[in-house]
Amino acid sequence: MPPLITTAIEDTLGALARARQRSLTIGLVPTMGALHAGHISLIRAARAETGFVVVSIFVNPTQFGPSEDFHRYPRPFDQDVQVCAAEGVDLIFHPDSGTLYPVGYQTYVEVHGLEEVLCGASRPGHFRGVVTVVCKLFNIIQPAVAYFGQKDAQQARIIQQMVRDLNLPLAIQVQPIVREADGLALSSRNQYLDANQRRQATVLYRSLEEVRELVNTGQRDAAILVQTMKNRIATAAAARLDYAAVVDFETLKPLERLHGQALVALAVYFGSTRLIDNILLKVDD
Ligand code: PAJ
Repeated sequence: MPPLITTAIEDTLGALARARQRSLTIGLVPTMGALHAGHISLIRAARAETGFVVVSIFVNPTQFGPSEDFHRYPRPFDQDVQVCAAEGVDLIFHPDSGTLYPVGYQTYVEVHGLEEVLCGASRPGHFRGVVTVVCKLFNIIQPAVAYFGQKDAQQARIIQQMVRDLNLPLAIQVQPIVREADGLALSSRNQYLDANQRRQATVLYRSLEEVRELVNTGQRDAAILVQTMKNRIATAAAARLDYAAVVDFETLKPLERLHGQALVALAVYFGSTRLIDNILLKVDD
C-alpha cells in the first residue's frame, strides 16, 4: 500500500484515529524532506518498533533566520513520496505553512539555557522554531515514539528536555549519524557544496576522529581538544569555522576536563553552506 498523504489536520486526525482503532502504536519521524539515508535510518527504526509510521515533511519557516536558506531549501516532494513508499511508511503529513501557522498565530515554546549555545548562538531563534513545530507535530500526531538523529545532537537534547519539562506522553529515540563512505555526515544541505567544497568537507569528521583518538590515548583537557579541531579545520582552505566545542551533553555547557558524557561538536561554513557534525564520548575516569 502506498502511503496516505495528508495536508489538512482533520484528514490527518482521521487517519490516525483509524490506526488507533486497529490498536497500532504510532511512530513519528519529523523531517523537512529531501530525504536521504539519514532520514531512512529513522524511518526504519520507526518501522521496526511501531505499527503505524508517520513521516512529516514540512520546511518549517520559523526555524530559519532572515538571511538563511528557507526559500532555496530543496523540496523534492515526489521523490520523497517514493522513498517513503519503498520504506513502508503509512502516512505522510505534508502541511503548508498556513495550516501550521494560520493568520493570528502567536505561541512559541522555548527551552531556556540549552537553546542559546552552540548552533543557537549562531542561529538566534532557530531552536525556538524547531521546538515549537515539533511540539505542534507531537500534539497533532500524538505518537508513542518520535525518532530523531544524533546528527543534530543539540536539537535532540533540547527536544528531550521539552518532553521532560512539559510531561509530553511519548518516548524520544535518537539514532546514530549516517555518513558517506568518506565520513561526511549526510545532510540535505550537502547538495549545496561544489566539488572542491565537497572534497574538503570531510575535514569535520577528520577533526572529530582526531579528538576521539586523543581522548582514547588519555587526553582530558578540553582546551587542547578544541585547539586540535581548530587547527585541523584551518588546513581546509575553503572552510570557515563557526564553532568547535567540547560540552557536557546534559547541560551543553563547556567542559574544562572531559568526564561523563561529552559532546564534541563542530559547525563549519563552506561559502554560505553551514555544516555540522559531532561525536559523543563517554569518559569514566
Ligand atoms: P531534517 O534536517 O530534515 O532532519 C530530520 C531528522 O533526520 C532529524 O532528527 C535529523 O537529526 C535526522 N538526520 C539528518 N541527517 C542525519 C544523518 N546523517 N544521520 C542520522 N540522522 C540524520 O531536523 C529537522 O529536519 C528539523 O529541525 C525538524 C526536527 C523536522 C523540525 O522542523
